Amino acid sequence: MPDVVTTIAGLRERVAQARREAALDGPADAPAGRVVLVPTMGALHRGHLRLVSRARDLGGIVVVSIFVNPLQFGPGEDLDRYPRTLDADVAALDGLADLVFAPSPAEMYPGGPSSTRVTAGEVGRLYEGASRPGHFDGMLTVVAKLLNIVQPDVAVFGQKDAQQVHLVGRMVDDLDLPVTIAVVDTVREDDGLALSSRNSYLDAEQRTAAVALSQALAAGAAAASGGVAAALAAANARVEAEPVVKLDYLAIVDQDTFLEAGADHRGPALLLIAARVGSTRLIDNARITVG
Ligand code: PAF
Repeated sequence: MPDVVTTIAGLRERVAQARREAALDGPADAPAGRVVLVPTMGALHRGHLRLVSRARDLGGIVVVSIFVNPLQFGPGEDLDRYPRTLDADVAALDGLADLVFAPSPAEMYPGGPSSTRVTAGEVGRLYEGASRPGHFDGMLTVVAKLLNIVQPDVAVFGQKDAQQVHLVGRMVDDLDLPVTIAVVDTVREDDGLALSSRNSYLDAEQRTAAVALSQALAAGAAAASGGVAAALAAANARVEAEPVVKLDYLAIVDQDTFLEAGADHRGPALLLIAARVGSTRLIDNARITVG
């Protein structure tokens, strides 16, 4: 089982110790001494474990953080009911992770929510940021803290949260953070539904209906040779056919800027979808080629 560390000082000490031990075994830049962080909010599923497997392949010391970050939840969101399953998470990481960093909110924010924030800027106010004001500032702030605490060589994120991946990458570039970001493709159920900790909120009818999100992405991708409008129309038609699913947004964005692709956009892009299934908000995305 991985060791569970709950304090920042304890985590720093354990990482330093692991680096020292790895240095005894070989050159400092060898993979054995590399520290790889997988930041999570717990309730681990196969998608998270794929991230941790990638981390295992990349380095010697794998740290998984499990922290439900209050800063990235807005009023009325699911902070209180977000699943907290630490014992099961640690068991699932057996043989995959070396350390689990599971701090309390008081350990991360001893004086209450930090007043210093990383701001996500324009892209942070679009799409997920428009539906969840302040979410990305809170997310970037905790990711910056985790990167400072663990000081990993590599941090691994999932492509399912495409806007998060974009913003973390930009923060690392903008703030010259000495870490490489690795991105792992979305893991899906057999019917195409992207794995998410929030899928556990869905009842049987909602779970069946939720496949409309990935099917809308597939329909959009298939129609993308006809251009941006055709791709959006095809994706929209699939969601409209499923009354249990209430669309929040469908958008096609430039992969590099995460800004809306113009009507005459050609080439690679990302098709994004967010929708409510009952009271559960789900997101998904697909890489598409337009034109
Ligand atoms: O993707 C998540 O689970 C969270 O946004 C993250 C990156 C762990 C920050 O709290």
